[in-house]
Amino acid sequence: MLYSLLKPLLLQLDAEYAHDLTIKLLRKVSETPLLWLLRQRVAVKPVTCMGLNFKNPVGLAAGLDKNGEAIEAFGAMGFAFIEVGTVTPRAQDGQARPRLFRIKEAEAFINRLGFNNLGVDYLVERLKNSRYDGIIGVNIGKNADTPIEQAHDDYLHCLQKVYPYAGYVVLNLSSPNTAALRSLQYGAALDNLLTVIKAQQTALQQQHGRTVPIAIKIAPDLEISEIIQIADTVLRHQIDGVIATNSTLDRQLVRGLSHCNEQGGLSGRPLQQRSTQIITLLAKELQGKTAIIGVGGIDSLTAAREKLQAGATLLQLYSSLIYHGPALVKHIIAHL
Ligand SMILES: Cc1cc2nc3c(=O)[nH]c(=O)nc-3n(C[C@H](O)[C@H](O)[C@H](O)COP(=O)(O)O)c2cc1C
Repeated sequence: MLYSLLKPLLLQLDAEYAHDLTIKLLRKVSETPLLWLLRQRVAVKPVTCMGLNFKNPVGLAAGLDKNGEAIEAFGAMGFAFIEVGTVTPRAQDGQARPRLFRIKEAEAFINRLGFNNLGVDYLVERLKNSRYDGIIGVNIGKNADTPIEQAHDDYLHCLQKVYPYAGYVVLNLSSPNTAALRSLQYGAALDNLLTVIKAQQTALQQQHGRTVPIAIKIAPDLEISEIIQIADTVLRHQIDGVIATNSTLDRQLVRGLSHCNEQGGLSGRPLQQRSTQIITLLAKELQGKTAIIGVGGIDSLTAAREKLQAGATLLQLYSSLIYHGPALVKHIIAHL
């Protein structure tokens, strides 16, 4: 109801301005008793994944609440888990504006934000103060000015900082907007990164007396052989989950539409089939030994079911929340 009133106004504004304004409003509202305005009663559909218990399988994808500003507000909408970030060790501005574009005809976005965020210390303070009773995932990345050969240091730094406050942690290896980041998905680079991350997970587990599962987030722009190799590496290192997928560089399905030639990652409906294909391939390789979290163009109950049937245990939404509002979250959870 509230969303149907606001949507026409927000869609008139510049996309990033509308995003920032919404997050500010949600934060303000969640600091007052008006939070009940956002609250929707959603069905309880418990699911266990990566050793954690989720109230339902639907979560908020990374990038919408990068700095953990509005966790309670998204929780009130019924999300069983909220992935904050991507966060980097130091605050950074990201790429030059404009850098976020709506493709309304396709219910899609192209973004090249480039990990604009307030830094891991800011996020940790937000997490310490959170009253959300669902699961918080923290999606971590590297600063733009950290050479790719030293990316490990940034991931280790963030992992250590967020470990005590995170339900699970995600290594984002697939943003198309940080130079060379996607190279960490392959071969020796992935092997080396997961070796040091796994060792630190074990050390932090002993230090804090609690296991925080670790997942990696992959791109949709991968060849079959690359997916097989990623699955093999993930299994060898006993990584807890794979999030499939991030946004795509492919423009085939939006050719001729507004903003289709902007650089960056394409998300929303045009990504739906591709990310489901990746999940299908991954599921075949992982054989249920590593959890899959499905994301990419989930804009309906049918799309949600397809991801689960392909092998995902949990689902995440981003673009469709903007185009359809929180009622979609309730609808999907109710009918799964
Ligand atoms: C504006 C925008 C910013 C995003 N930022 C991040 C990010 O910081 N980290 C990340 O892992 N994914 C990020 N994503 C990708 C989403 O988490 C998700 O993987 C992708 O949008 C596909 O889901 P969707 O089709 O439901 O939007 C971003 C997506 C959008 C549209």
